[in-house]
Amino acid sequence: MLSEAFLWATRKSPSARRYMWSAFYQSVAHRFSDFDWWHFMNYGYADLAGDRAPIALRNEDEDERYCIQLYDHVASAADLRNRDVLEVGCGRGGGASYIARYLHPKSMVGVDIAGSAIQFCRRAHRSEGLRFLKGDAENLPFADQSFDVVINIESSFCYGDMARFLSEVGRVLRPGGSFLLADLRLAHEVEGLLADLRASPLEILETKDITAEVGHALAFDHERRVKGMNGKIPFLLRGVVNTFAGVQGTRIPNLLSSGELVYLNVVLRKSPGREEEAQPPDDACRSLPWEGRNVPAAFAQGEARSATACSPFFF
Ligand SMILES: C[S@@+](CC[C@H](N)C(=O)[O-])C[C@H]1O[C@@H](n2cnc3c(N)ncnc32)[C@H](O)[C@@H]1O
Repeated sequence: MLSEAFLWATRKSPSARRYMWSAFYQSVAHRFSDFDWWHFMNYGYADLAGDRAPIALRNEDEDERYCIQLYDHVASAADLRNRDVLEVGCGRGGGASYIARYLHPKSMVGVDIAGSAIQFCRRAHRSEGLRFLKGDAENLPFADQSFDVVINIESSFCYGDMARFLSEVGRVLRPGGSFLLADLRLAHEVEGLLADLRASPLEILETKDITAEVGHALAFDHERRVKGMNGKIPFLLRGVVNTFAGVQGTRIPNLLSSGELVYLNVVLRKSPGREEEAQPPDDACRSLPWEGRNVPAAFAQGEARSATACSPFFF
């Protein structure tokens, strides 16, 4: 009932969606500020092709391996060594901390709209070159051309205006910089997201459908997700929390396996020269990796709908 009201409110308008999601994550960070072991809010990634050696993680990171693997997979599209890296929508900071400790950037900044999440991050993660700031994806608190790489994982579905966010990414990136995006959309919203990306000041280099990798990660990580939360959550809230956490048998894994929910990883680049900026090649997205897969008809036919009309699908 409560979650239905929440969904209804987020569908009212882009500003309602922006407000409702930021209030939701603000309260999650506040309510779980003492869950020191919980550093990620994404659904993870399992390397199904097995073409990369498993990441050699320190013992203290092993528990959150699948969530880290999502960051590692997304980050692997660019060389972060000695680069200034920004993460927009850093949540509980585990991803920014992983990048700072393992991938050797020159600097790593995590930004989130939820002030209580930023407080948690500052307490939980201390590494050289790593800092956290409160900020809105649609109005980034940085000067033009401040970063070499911008990362955005499972956050853009919350934004009121995706085009505004992409324009901000284009502004804060240096020429030749990379934008690495991973997020979910309902299948009928995917074409709208791709249209927003194509219309952005960035060039699409690669579009990957990683729905199966994320779905499998949720299955492999099931026990931890159930155990981690349920011991500490009031009985009445467990249903909602299990759904949010993507435990097996709830909405997210079901929608991922039916193809109604699609998880995309897109690699984009800002043009190296300001003069040549913009127009991606017409066929940048023509060969989509999910072509031929079992996807809903509206998506396969490329029926365009606004990516920013995205529905929250956690409940
Ligand atoms: C599902 S969590 C993902 C967090 C993190 N990327 C991870 O993978 O663990 C989404 C995050 O996006 C943040 N967020 C939502 N709207 C935002 C906005 N307009 N600007 C910045 N962050 C935002 C939320 O506060 C939340 O922390």
